Amino acid sequence: MADASSIFAGIATSAQNGAPLYLQLKKAIADAVRRGLLVPGDALPSERDIATRAEVSRVTVRKAVQELVRDGMLVQRHGSGTFVAPRMDRVEQSLSRLTSFTEDMARRGMKVRSAWLERGIYPPSPEEMMVLGLSSKELVARISRLRIANGTPLAIERASLSASTLPDPDAVGSSLYATLEKTGNRPVRAVQRISAANLGDADSKLLEVAPGSASLNIERISYLLSGKVIEFTRSVYRGDAYDFVAELRLSSPDESGESIL
Ligand code: GLP
Repeated sequence: MADASSIFAGIATSAQNGAPLYLQLKKAIADAVRRGLLVPGDALPSERDIATRAEVSRVTVRKAVQELVRDGMLVQRHGSGTFVAPRMDRVEQSLSRLTSFTEDMARRGMKVRSAWLERGIYPPSPEEMMVLGLSSKELVARISRLRIANGTPLAIERASLSASTLPDPDAVGSSLYATLEKTGNRPVRAVQRISAANLGDADSKLLEVAPGSASLNIERISYLLSGKVIEFTRSVYRGDAYDFVAELRLSSPDESGESIL
């Protein structure tokens, strides 16, 4: 481990800017992990040690550590202390299964959390009207979330659905697809368009990477069995965290020329 005292020092004295002390300590630890000053497997000093070095109370240390454990950045092992969690490998995501973010991450044993960026009912944009087949008198439900796995923000997802499908966006808990499933509206087919892009200032801040970093922008239009479009989602995935994998088969002669669109 690098010089730990530099990580924790000065938290109390820099606290004049108003943010609660435990959040400042949490940020200092998270920054140290991101900058590689603390690496996966490193043990954190004891609660008492951190409290002394950061000049904060042990309650403050406990609160900061608990949040980082909840986020999956730290792990606590009974009797032996608190450690930096193992590094997340790049996520390999199949392009042939219609799964939700929650399911994808749960399959990998990762803890998922979302930060809400927007949710509500709005008049539809011309694009939403076209894709979702809405008239100008109908309304659209929008939900935008920052999707976080094991404490690392992985994607920003901005979904639009007809308000008749999702009349109460506040009812969406941790999973949109779980909510849709309850009303028999879980999509069974989707078309995805993936393009490379560079992150602008706002999105790079949310994804905690440098502005201009590579991203994969994914547009998913998903359908019910009836052929009705149910979801129009634009997602921005961190380019450094995702590999999308597609299985390709030699098509039989009667399938040649078939279009997925
Ligand atoms: C994926 C898709 C989105 C979809 C989401 C649902 O990430 N790219 O289009 O809306 O899954 O995930 P959840 O059910 O976890 O909200």
